Amino acid sequence: MAAKYQAPRGTYDLLPEQAAVRARILGEAKALVEGAGFGQIDTPIFEDTDLFVRTVGEATDIVRKEMYTFTDQGGRSLTLRPEGTAPVCRTYLEHGMHKLPQPVKLWYTGPMFRYERAQAGRYRQHAQIGAEAIGSDDPAVDAELIDVLAHLYARLRLPGVRLHLTSIGDAASRADYTRELRDHLLRHEVFGAEQRARIEINPMRAFDWDDPEIVAVTNSAPKMVDRLSPADAEHFEEVRRLLDGAAVDYVLDPRLVRGLDYYTRTVFEFRCDELGAQSGIGGGGRYDGLVEQLGGPPTPGAGWATGLERIAQALESTASESPAARAGARGRPDIIFVLTEPRARERIFRVISELREEGIGATMDLGGRSMKSQMRQAERLGAPWAVIVGPEEWEREAAAVRDMRRRDQDEVSLSHLRQELLRRAA
Ligand code: HAM
Repeated sequence: MAAKYQAPRGTYDLLPEQAAVRARILGEAKALVEGAGFGQIDTPIFEDTDLFVRTVGEATDIVRKEMYTFTDQGGRSLTLRPEGTAPVCRTYLEHGMHKLPQPVKLWYTGPMFRYERAQAGRYRQHAQIGAEAIGSDDPAVDAELIDVLAHLYARLRLPGVRLHLTSIGDAASRADYTRELRDHLLRHEVFGAEQRARIEINPMRAFDWDDPEIVAVTNSAPKMVDRLSPADAEHFEEVRRLLDGAAVDYVLDPRLVRGLDYYTRTVFEFRCDELGAQSGIGGGGRYDGLVEQLGGPPTPGAGWATGLERIAQALESTASESPAARAGARGRPDIIFVLTEPRARERIFRVISELREEGIGATMDLGGRSMKSQMRQAERLGAPWAVIVGPEEWEREAAAVRDMRRRDQDEVSLSHLRQELLRRAA
């Protein structure tokens, strides 16, 4: 007999076997992000509607037609959250987190709601894991976020994952570019009335349309990545240098458009070949104007989110089990790198990425603070080891490795650093 009630269209029930897979994904993710110094937060499932309209953008599909909005008994317009970044930024402001050492690194997991056309891999209630670093515009923040997410997929042994990366600059250079792109597109006759209307609002959406005639037009269109200001171009170069140094593979994709309007500078998306049409498994980028849009002071930020259903689906296509989560299973980094020598950044970023690979939780200071306040931060996070590289150590091609519990330290040459830290922190 057919059941009278079924789970609403676009939703699903998580049964014990699938719940076990999800628990494993969450365990790996928690270990990785907490090992990199992110602390967990949880925000309400619904928020003021306006929070999403202002930040996600009025021209986006999400705000135009996908939000679950309702009026409560008190006459307020509320919306089931379609995404987690705007709520986290609201929390940052509401709880005065600008007073904490910057950037503030937070991660979360929970359900998101979008009224999308239901199909394989696309749900009306889906679950995300997300990470946000608010309060620093350092390119190392972008690179660290990307490195951590790449390690999550690697640790889960997801097959066929590719990282697409580009920069879309700041609001000012994008305004000039948008005009140029709109003129280019509207010179062609291939768009319908609705598409022309959308081009008027945000012409970059056209890069998402896959009609071959339109693809030909967008292929010949100018690209934002070629119109970056010198400062934005240098920022993007540094993100790439850090990723290259840590051997994180990516494809430069000037056609990459994200579905949310708050992005600036770095944007990225991980795609998985196993997933078919809904291949986006995780994505994010920088959002330097978002906190200000919410009425706060100018505050840079960056982050990502990844979909739990899509990870589980990609895992189904592989039989292999990943090793148990180790790093950050302790809920904090094992090692904090305290850098006061800028020339050491790329070298140390690579060492940190290699340690992550081995299951050691590590991060470096991303706020450009003094040595003293960096050490205080290492203590606050409860990391048992601190590795200090200042100008003097750098000259000697060495690092000071400090045992935070015994309060003593010795010097290790940079060429042996990774091996030595693996031995001590494992
Ligand atoms: P997003 O790309 O819209 O980004 O969503 C992140 C991930 O959630 C996607 O890559 C996908 O895996 C999953 N996802 C999205 N929609 C669905 C759906 N309808 N069904 C199943 N899975 C889905 C954001 O939400 C941003 N808040 C990410 C971010 C954080 N940017 C900066 N910080």
